[in-house]
Amino acid sequence: MTLAGRTVVIIGGGSGIGLEVARRAVAAGAQVHLGGRTEAKLAAAAGEIGAKWQVVDSTDQASLAAFFGALDEIDHLFTPGAAYRVGPLRELSDEDAASPFTTKFWGQYHAVKHAVPKLTADASIVLMSGAASVRPPGAAPAYVACNAAVEGLGRGLAVELAPVRVNVVAPGTIDGNLWAQRPAAVREASFAQYEADTLLHRVGKESEVAEAVLYLLSSTYTTGSTLYPDGGYALR
Ligand SMILES: NC(=O)c1ccc[n+]([C@@H]2O[C@H](COP(=O)([O-])OP(=O)(O)OC[C@H]3O[C@@H](n4cnc5c(N)ncnc54)[C@H](OP(=O)(O)O)[C@@H]3O)[C@@H](O)[C@H]2O)c1
Repeated sequence: MTLAGRTVVIIGGGSGIGLEVARRAVAAGAQVHLGGRTEAKLAAAAGEIGAKWQVVDSTDQASLAAFFGALDEIDHLFTPGAAYRVGPLRELSDEDAASPFTTKFWGQYHAVKHAVPKLTADASIVLMSGAASVRPPGAAPAYVACNAAVEGLGRGLAVELAPVRVNVVAPGTIDGNLWAQRPAAVREASFAQYEADTLLHRVGKESEVAEAVLYLLSSTYTTGSTLYPDGGYALR
């Protein structure tokens, strides 16, 4: 399947992996709609690559209803939009511990729920997880559990929504916008640890995750799968 002429919706498309997928989808001839919470970021990203955009907060179902209500048919949906806290059980507040589930699990669940009436018969969905699902990167149990839950959600949705295809991408540590927002000392220590911990001895690139997402969006016989662009992190 080619993305030419298809409609691709990306919640969390204003930066990072979502923007990289959007850039490649536009280049492939797709009509791309970006969603996120920050108008200025979306407008700049959409202007740069030639996409449409609309503000949406995936933790707010009224916002999701307005976002999807304004769209016509949707061929492909990717939902990397999330913002959360990560840390040890002994240190995180209950609210922070719940934040991965609030934004990354329920945000994606509700995005799919509001998108379903607009999906075409041969539509596909890619959910965002993270390789922490299969190999905890230190003390972050709620974040680890959330990613595992997203992968279960992908399998469950693949069964319920067939013939619409639903897959999950679970990247390792990626040198991109997310880590650029974190303090340099934290980033450098995390990258060094990841380089030691992974088979390919390096962190990944947003472009490498985008390639995996485009494969999952367009591969017509792949559903219910989780793909790990993680440099072999889970095996080391
Ligand atoms: N980068 C990595 O190393 C890595 C590894 C594994 C998994 N992941 C996963 O990849 C996803 C995206 O990360 P990224 O690396 O692309 O970072 P990013 O640049 O921070 O992308 C996240 C995007 O989501 C948007 N967003 C955040 N909360 C939202 C909400 N409630 N509703 C709608 N949009 C929202 C953000 O924009 P606004 O703030 O303007 O809304 C931002 O554009 C996350 O789920 C992360 O767990 C990343």
